[in-house]
Amino acid sequence: MNERIVPEQAAGEPAIRIRGLRKAFGAQHVLQGLDLDVRQGQVTVVIGLSGAGKSVLLKLILGLLRPDAGTIEIDGTDILSLPPRKMRALRRHFGMVFQHGALFDSMSIYENVAFPLREHEKLPEEELARRVFAALADVGLEGHEGKMPSALSGGMRKRASLARALVRNPRFLLYDEPTTGLDPIRTASIDRLIHDTALRHPEISSLVISHDMTATFRIADHVAMLYDGRIVAEGPPDLMLHHEDPLVQQFIRGELSGPIPT
Ligand SMILES: Nc1ncnc2c1ncn2[C@@H]1O[C@H](COP(=O)(O)OP(=O)(O)OP(=O)(O)O)[C@@H](O)[C@H]1O
Ligand SMILES: [Mg+2]
Repeated sequence: MNERIVPEQAAGEPAIRIRGLRKAFGAQHVLQGLDLDVRQGQVTVVIGLSGAGKSVLLKLILGLLRPDAGTIEIDGTDILSLPPRKMRALRRHFGMVFQHGALFDSMSIYENVAFPLREHEKLPEEELARRVFAALADVGLEGHEGKMPSALSGGMRKRASLARALVRNPRFLLYDEPTTGLDPIRTASIDRLIHDTALRHPEISSLVISHDMTATFRIADHVAMLYDGRIVAEGPPDLMLHHEDPLVQQFIRGELSGPIPT
């Protein structure tokens, strides 16, 4: 399942390059000098304990939070020095799949997926419908467009959330815990969807936040472990599985004894 169009060695410059990223909330130092590269066309998975700062990292990349120090380069541009108007323009290239789907409950699936287009692009209704149906087909939700989110299973809601993230043809897909709250079968099906989406869209670089180890090793081209505010270990999945750092071994095996306090 790990055959990818852009293999690790051939992958070019990092699409996202993060150096020395720091973020504190009051006395709580969440990120303490984080370095990470997200390579073009790959699926990079960041793993780490609850509260490690994984969602904070995504918010910093999206410009929803400002770091205390460090740089975040997107295609070589330091986004922290961009004026707000340019930052908003850049955000157009990001599709976000939130931890709990974050669909609008009062809108049909069609309207949820159409929403980013209506907000940002003035399209004739016919063209808008074409884009919405293409995104729904991309995630296997054809025929469900008239339903309300409450009428869908958790897995289908995640699919709808991915369709909404894809509808503006993003260059980056950010997933925050995409399989939280799903049963093992739906988890496997969302993992496959993330994998297939990356295969079908080699122009997209994906960053997935996860603490599900099965999911991580199913979908990742590159795994990075966030601990104590930094990336303490990273590499291709098979390398991480056999990593000598006891932090990595304890985390991926879910063991109680080891350097990580329980
Ligand atoms: N806006 C904020 N104000 C104050 N503290 C915050 C804020 N956002 C996050 N934090 C704190 O930063 C820490 C990291 O939070 P974050 O949500 O990134 O964790 P996480 O790694 O995503 O965890 P989980 O796996 O449970 O989702 C937490 O202790 C959280 O309370
Ligand atoms: Mg989180």
